[in-house]
Amino acid sequence: MTSYTVRALPGLPEIAAGDDLTKLIASAEPGLVDGDILLVTSKIVSKAEGRLVAARDRESAIDAETVRVVARRGPLRIVENRQGLVMAAAGVDASNTPAGTVLLLPEDPDASARTIRDGLRETLGVEIGVIVTDTFGRPWRNGLTDVAIGAAGVRVLDDLRGGTDAHGNPLSATVVAVADELAAAGDLVKGKADGLPVAVVRGLGHLVGPQSSSEDSARAIVRSAADDMFRLGTSEAVREAVTQRRTVREFTDEPVDPDAVRRAVAAAVTAPAPHHTTPWRFVLLETATAREELLDAMRDAWIADLRRDGKSEESIAKRVRRGEVLRRAPYLVVPCLVMDGSHHYGDARRDTAEREMFVVATGAGVQNFLVALAGERLGSAWVSSTMFCPDVVRRVLRLPDHWDPMGAVAVGHAAAAPRQRPAREASDFITVR
Ligand SMILES: Cc1cc2nc3c(=O)[nH]c(=O)nc-3n(C[C@H](O)[C@H](O)[C@H](O)COP(=O)(O)O)c2cc1C
Repeated sequence: MTSYTVRALPGLPEIAAGDDLTKLIASAEPGLVDGDILLVTSKIVSKAEGRLVAARDRESAIDAETVRVVARRGPLRIVENRQGLVMAAAGVDASNTPAGTVLLLPEDPDASARTIRDGLRETLGVEIGVIVTDTFGRPWRNGLTDVAIGAAGVRVLDDLRGGTDAHGNPLSATVVAVADELAAAGDLVKGKADGLPVAVVRGLGHLVGPQSSSEDSARAIVRSAADDMFRLGTSEAVREAVTQRRTVREFTDEPVDPDAVRRAVAAAVTAPAPHHTTPWRFVLLETATAREELLDAMRDAWIADLRRDGKSEESIAKRVRRGEVLRRAPYLVVPCLVMDGSHHYGDARRDTAEREMFVVATGAGVQNFLVALAGERLGSAWVSSTMFCPDVVRRVLRLPDHWDPMGAVAVGHAAAAPRQRPAREASDFITVR
């Protein structure tokens, strides 16, 4: 197919609730033929379906149409709406609506497209395709364009995978969003303010005809949140990364990507620290031998502690079994604190405060590390054990005397999602003066 025509339909009246769109389109353009594709602005579909609400209820209308907030900047909200579309303000729109009102999107734009297609088959005896269009902004690109939000009798996606290009290269990812391309073509002649809400494309009849039920729907064009690499806005993703860090104590056998751990260390060492020091060191235990050697030595030291406490052999065995989280992990990291650059005051109060500053700064670095691991989709458990036997850890790992181990971090792919825990109310943790 090397050419097609697209033209706007003149002669449509202002649409009001209860109007029969099929009849109005049929009388505006009785010359429709088989294979034509109608591009119908969602606005007139919404109006005909009586989807007008008072403008003062706009915010609550957006709330009601929203199933998931993707991003929020001031009053602007990008959300997934009840139709499954990710768009600004859930598609609740005030343009081209009577003063004091806003318009919701059609309840089911695919069904609206089907009604028009079936109606025109009945009235004019033609087999056409129908696309209901709406105007969207896009991530990464300035400017708005029309896309398909409802479709009937048109191939919405053209799957070229398995074919080859003109040079014989295999097309392995090429699925063309035909319905969106058609919607955009229609927008070129409909315009935004010309009172031309319907366009007809002629010459692309090969795209028209009954489609399989999964393809006869503009929903097929919407990427699911699970497959979306950009599921959240940037600020939202940062916030979610923090809450996604949860202690993971059971791991799968899947190995840990050492580069991901190094990226997390790079994030860790951006933490705040006193007087421009860098108190963090990360010892990466990348071989099973290194991990076992450390864990065996720590276990022996722990058992010795418990025996000194007078614990029974039975209770010692039980405790040691409970402390197996590090053994179950495919990767271990020992974060260490170094006091390089610390001040020496010579009195206990200030020297203790100085030490505490370095300890909290190390904690900030470890938290950065854990959050960054969560961003790499790696689970972690930061446990205390190495802090109780620093000499053993230094000896086994051959670390300098002034490196203080600050626990150990088990890293791996989580075997299960962490248990939900009730949200903590910020106000419970805040005192305002
Ligand atoms: C300094 C420190 C030491 C910890 N030591 C242990 C530990 O020895 N064993 C353990 O299972 N979890 C340990 N944890 C993890 C806490 O139990 C965990 O953070 C807490 O249950 C909250 O769960 P969440 O991390 O999923 O939010 C430690 C956490 C911190 C910050």
